[in-house]
Amino acid sequence: MQQQIDKYTQEINNFVKATADELEAFRIKFLGTKGIVKDLFEQFKTVGAEEKRTFGKVLNQFKQLAEAKYNELKEGAGTAAESGKTEADLTLPGDGFALGSRHPLSLVRNEIIDIFKRLGFVVAEGPEIEDDWHNFSALNFPEEHPARDMQDTFFIKKNHGQDDIALRTHTSSVQVRMMENGKPPFRAIMPGRVYRNEAISARAHCFFHQVEGLYVDENVSFADLKQTLFHFVQELYGEGTKVRFRPSYFPFTEPSAEMDISCTICKGDGCNMCKYSGWVEILGCGMVDPNVLENCGINSKKYTGFAFGMGIERITNLKYVIRDLRLFSENDVRFLKQFKTEII
Ligand code: PHE
Repeated sequence: MQQQIDKYTQEINNFVKATADELEAFRIKFLGTKGIVKDLFEQFKTVGAEEKRTFGKVLNQFKQLAEAKYNELKEGAGTAAESGKTEADLTLPGDGFALGSRHPLSLVRNEIIDIFKRLGFVVAEGPEIEDDWHNFSALNFPEEHPARDMQDTFFIKKNHGQDDIALRTHTSSVQVRMMENGKPPFRAIMPGRVYRNEAISARAHCFFHQVEGLYVDENVSFADLKQTLFHFVQELYGEGTKVRFRPSYFPFTEPSAEMDISCTICKGDGCNMCKYSGWVEILGCGMVDPNVLENCGINSKKYTGFAFGMGIERITNLKYVIRDLRLFSENDVRFLKQFKTEII
């Protein structure tokens, strides 16, 4: 009997971890109605008085050991004891999660939109896949005219003429759609992605983002254009930023100009960014050509308007000193997480 007890004691002590099923098997084996403990007590009844004295205590201890082991394993079964952790402490702080940040182009686009919204401009959008009429013809690009080469177009369908389909090369196409579908006055900006067939490098990409603007009403003059854009630049780059207008050419505006601002990096002293000239070009603009107004069904004797267009990448480069355009579309989190997150 002593030998049996020793053997089972060892077995119980070796039993350290158990699944619910193993624990139930343990209970049946040792503590069940036909289990070992019961069996030993049955045997105990039949031994002599001498042995009764020796084994009484041993047997009781053995029974307590089996019960204690069972209770201990039952408490931990399937929960914390198994995974080696203590029970979840609900007062601990939760796991933090990383907040994303806005893409720098979105930050700057939103800022541009905010400035023009305060001046009463609305936001207009249009399709990225355009027909020849909205991207070129309505904007006074004559067919086969070399001006179309200014914008290296990705054609989707080329039929030499008005049913060409292309990725839009500028968001001026949205201006056409707006004028065709409404009545003056118009005061809107058109943010969006545009495409041009250029080799990808630090300075050029096959797509970029624009914000164009349109203001059509009675008596709109070049002075309105200058004042609006001057105000825009003061808001975006700070009071005291200088502007200058240089004569230029666009088929859809007459007269046309390009606008430079005093370099935001060196404040006009000369640096790499402004090629030591103190000035950087940021946008094209002009008075809407009467032909464009007429193409869109607007009486050019009664209405005049101005338009402008800028690349968001360029505006962003000047704000954050980013020298490689490719960074904007590579999705490198080390680049992206440097920009502040807007609280929305
Ligand atoms: N559409 C011109 C471009 O993409 C920009 C522009 C818009 C110029 C409006 C003048 C007026 O280059």
